Amino acid sequence: MNQIENRKDEHVRISLEKDVSTNHNYWDDVILIHNALPELNFEEIDLEIEFFKKKLGAPIIISGMTGGYAKAKSINENLAKAAENFQIGMGVGSQRAALESSELKHTYSVVKDYDIPIRIANIGASQIVLWGHKKTLEYANIMIDMIDADILAVCLNFLQEAVQFEGETQAKGCLKEIDLLAKDLDIPVIVKESGAGISFDVAQRISKTNISGVDVGGLSGTSFAAIEHYRAEIYSNKLYSRVGETFWNWGISTPKSILNVGEATNWRLPIIATGGIRNGLDVAKSLALGANSAGIARALLKPAIEGNAISEIDIIIRELKTAMFLTGSKNIAKMREVEVLYEPKI
Ligand SMILES: Cc1cc2nc3c(=O)[nH]c(=O)nc-3n(C[C@H](O)[C@H](O)[C@H](O)COP(=O)(O)O)c2cc1C
Repeated sequence: MNQIENRKDEHVRISLEKDVSTNHNYWDDVILIHNALPELNFEEIDLEIEFFKKKLGAPIIISGMTGGYAKAKSINENLAKAAENFQIGMGVGSQRAALESSELKHTYSVVKDYDIPIRIANIGASQIVLWGHKKTLEYANIMIDMIDADILAVCLNFLQEAVQFEGETQAKGCLKEIDLLAKDLDIPVIVKESGAGISFDVAQRISKTNISGVDVGGLSGTSFAAIEHYRAEIYSNKLYSRVGETFWNWGISTPKSILNVGEATNWRLPIIATGGIRNGLDVAKSLALGANSAGIARALLKPAIEGNAISEIDIIIRELKTAMFLTGSKNIAKMREVEVLYEPKI
């Protein structure tokens, strides 16, 4: 395995073996109000949404996690089967590994074998800063073809880059590069934080560009600082082990990030709520706060490896329907109007 393949493997292994969650789960701060008279039948509940002009069977996106080393193929394949089964969206992990070693393409392109309504390509923001516009456009088209993508996500993961010992921390000119890419590409470009969330100010800056949507990737679930802390420990790297530990709980919570993006953009940009979604109740909470769909990553990793992603998502969907029933929401539009108790901490 080369260096990138090793890193991808370690990210997955550490996520499975260690507790890499933030200390607090911010979804516990969001409370939906019970409706004792829902006046609808459970069977009538409709989960379908239109998202980026595609029909989804439920407002759920399997967040991009992996690709780029041998074992990733079966993880992506199991997730793709589940995405097809429920007609939900799916992202892959950063495709940089396959750009550098084309023999790894199949670990991503396996998702093309499944009828998935929205496939999301993925690349890190620091990469596109490094490449510049011409190269970025060329690589973006390769990544899109690789998985027949409907959307390209540019991953804003500067926390991870800053706490990773091989991290790439060039961020100057980043928004301009993403904007240029979004202007010139044939498919929508979204930005995707990966655990540290989006502030009101950042959302305002995004709203002035050609970027078509925001995956808020907030603080609440998987902490990449925690993952990098454990990676640094494997290599006995005391410096990065300490820095990762210090920034374990850094960021803006996912619930607050939804409000930041919604309010800063007048709810004009589609919002994917990723970060700490554990179950269908959390999905419902994210919708009630104004998200258009919820993204789930680590909660699906073990089920995907064990070949149980379909039964896990089945449970999540049943929980979402239960929350919708108990709030009297017959469809997702109604769920997004439900009363919610929430006092942001961060
Ligand atoms: C093992 C693993 C690998 C990941 N790799 C990527 C990646 O390559 N690109 C990306 O944008 N996000 C990546 N993520 C971040 C997830 O998409 C998601 O934003 C984050 O894990 C928060 O969601 P969660 O709390 O449901 O896990 C990865 C997450 C995990 C657990």
